[in-house]
Amino acid sequence: MKRILLSILALASFTGIALADEGMWLPALISQRIGDMQAKGFKLSAEDVYSVNQASLKDAVVLFGGGCTGEIVSDEGLLLTNHHCGYGFIQRHSSVEHDYLKDGFWAMDRSQELPNRGLTVSFLQRMEEVTDQVLKGYDKSMTELQRDSVIRVNSGELVRAAMEEGKGLRASVEALYYGNQYFLFVYKIYRDVRLVGAPPSSIGKFGGDTDNWMWPRHTGDFSIFRIYADKDNEPADYSEDNVPYKPRRFFKISRKGVKEGDFTFVYGCPGSTKEYVMSEEVKYTAEVSDPQKIALRTKRLDIQKKYMNASQAVRIQYSSKNAGVSNAWKKWQGEEKGIKKMKTVAAKQAFERKFNKWAEGTEYEGLVDKLGALYAERNPYFRAQEYYSETVRAIEILSFASGVVSTLERDRSAAPNAESFFKDYYQPIDEETFVAMMEAFDSQMEDRFKPEYFKEKLAEYGSVKAWKDDLFKKTVFTDKAKVSALTSADLESLYEDPAYELYNAFMAWFYEDIRPVVDEANAKIRLANRDYMRGQMAFEPDKAFYPDANLTLRVAYGHVAGYHPADGMYYAPVSTLKGIIEKDNPEIFDYNIPQALRDIYAQGGHDDQAVCFLATNHTSGGNSGSPVINADGNLIGINFDRVWEGTMSDIAFDPEVCRNISLDIRYLLFVVDKIGHASYLFDEMDFAD
Ligand code: ARG
Ligand code: ASP
Repeated sequence: MKRILLSILALASFTGIALADEGMWLPALISQRIGDMQAKGFKLSAEDVYSVNQASLKDAVVLFGGGCTGEIVSDEGLLLTNHHCGYGFIQRHSSVEHDYLKDGFWAMDRSQELPNRGLTVSFLQRMEEVTDQVLKGYDKSMTELQRDSVIRVNSGELVRAAMEEGKGLRASVEALYYGNQYFLFVYKIYRDVRLVGAPPSSIGKFGGDTDNWMWPRHTGDFSIFRIYADKDNEPADYSEDNVPYKPRRFFKISRKGVKEGDFTFVYGCPGSTKEYVMSEEVKYTAEVSDPQKIALRTKRLDIQKKYMNASQAVRIQYSSKNAGVSNAWKKWQGEEKGIKKMKTVAAKQAFERKFNKWAEGTEYEGLVDKLGALYAERNPYFRAQEYYSETVRAIEILSFASGVVSTLERDRSAAPNAESFFKDYYQPIDEETFVAMMEAFDSQMEDRFKPEYFKEKLAEYGSVKAWKDDLFKKTVFTDKAKVSALTSADLESLYEDPAYELYNAFMAWFYEDIRPVVDEANAKIRLANRDYMRGQMAFEPDKAFYPDANLTLRVAYGHVAGYHPADGMYYAPVSTLKGIIEKDNPEIFDYNIPQALRDIYAQGGHDDQAVCFLATNHTSGGNSGSPVINADGNLIGINFDRVWEGTMSDIAFDPEVCRNISLDIRYLLFVVDKIGHASYLFDEMDFAD
């Protein structure tokens, strides 16, 4: 019996089964995981997933914009991502007359596809380990600063050489495992990307921020774009002469559907995780950082909601801003709860005790204590930094003032672009936010973390409210006509504008008193974490360690699964159109579906139309829009979210409750056809079964 157990354990650690479905793996090293993936049902080879020499699935995945993922689904550059990833672009094409956010948008032929300034998609050409090249010339006697400069110079050379290999390339060297390993990533960047289709928000954002981060979910969170290239299929600026991009590889679509237990594979770009940090950092996150940020954002959201509910124009103006504020706000609540429920701090402390014992007499002795001391030194300052960025930086007029001044300083002939700011600015929201944020700053910051300027102004006016009234009366930055007419000759007087003055005083304080301390401590923490990461790997030599996310391409595999959100409750992994109809309520903005959808449902036969599903893939912010692939390598869904009870997966993964949420690809097809009447798009897709 004991023998059997031992061999099971050995097998488990060798193949990584012990990790359950935790992990976001590097595609270039997928041969190390492919055995486990195949054991769990995957039918493709490592070469099918990632190859430099032949077309592989990686060639059908892109980094979409600066923080989402997208996938190619036709040999004419058709791309799928989330509605919330295309949101800003859809909004930019929208006005009260042409409200594509509200009504949806469907190009009925290629000539109607809408170009998007500033939108790019990046295809990974290759990734390769370059640790030796990056550290060439480094020796252990060097300081961290010297090491940084060695790395900078060597990386610069690698990047330059890589970029010379072709047109439209971008390269970067990224640190993995806290700088124990370096990888070169080479991307090809396409910059003519056009909007093809988007459902109305009442489908694409169905459930809104009420359902965000939650199950059961019924959001049709997709939008459709097309990549264009020049005649040689190379990246080019927007031009009428451009032609649809021909990909090396695109996904076939599976209409087979999913059921509990099915293998799932998410291929995308998770942004940032910290799975290997010590208990002190987790403690700070769950006990200080998350609660304080949540409290501040609650105030901002309440203010925004009040005005958005009162006016459709304000709702359009603030929809994107509000979604952004709300999104992290809700995630942090789940994260705080999850860390507490999992007792991650205590678990990490227990691990650290074992680690310390093992570390005696090694280079890792005392390391954890040292890290703890560094966090203790940093955290009060870091708290001030976070507080500053969630309060002062949340007041729109202040950043606008600074933006205008620096435009005029940079280019003396430039005219400030007031148009885009005022298009989405509603002053009463900003005024109330000012009062709420500055009052919070006053009551929550220790005296030693308040700028002199702040104390003086409060003393002068007697209250934040009186200060605010005077500032908004006197500042020029609330007046669109006046701002548009500003020239560099006005700079002297702008330096005395109360909005600019406040911004500037806080900036000076932040860069002189706060940031240097945080930066210095962080540099030391980074160094200690590099040792700690290496130490953890030495301590558990049989464990498979995946590197923390850094917006580079990763593979996360798992299976379709429900979960128990609380005692006595079970959430099934699949949602259907029937559930949308159950939630439908014309009185509630987030649940008011288009009449067309009600009519289609009323015709009957659509009860079982699949909408979303849950799986155990380890994903993070940035994985939105990622292709979800079945055992045959075909597209079954688009990843867009995680469940609230599992958002601590950025810090600690609990296989019991960490679930990613995906749109079932069949709901996309249903909406394109029945709501968008754009089924002509299916002609260029390839259906697997
Ligand atoms: N929670 C998802 C993610 O982090 C979706 C966010 C967009 N949706 C929203 N209702 N705010 O990005
Ligand atoms: N919704 C997230 C995104 O936009 C995904 C996640 O955090 O799970 O990337």
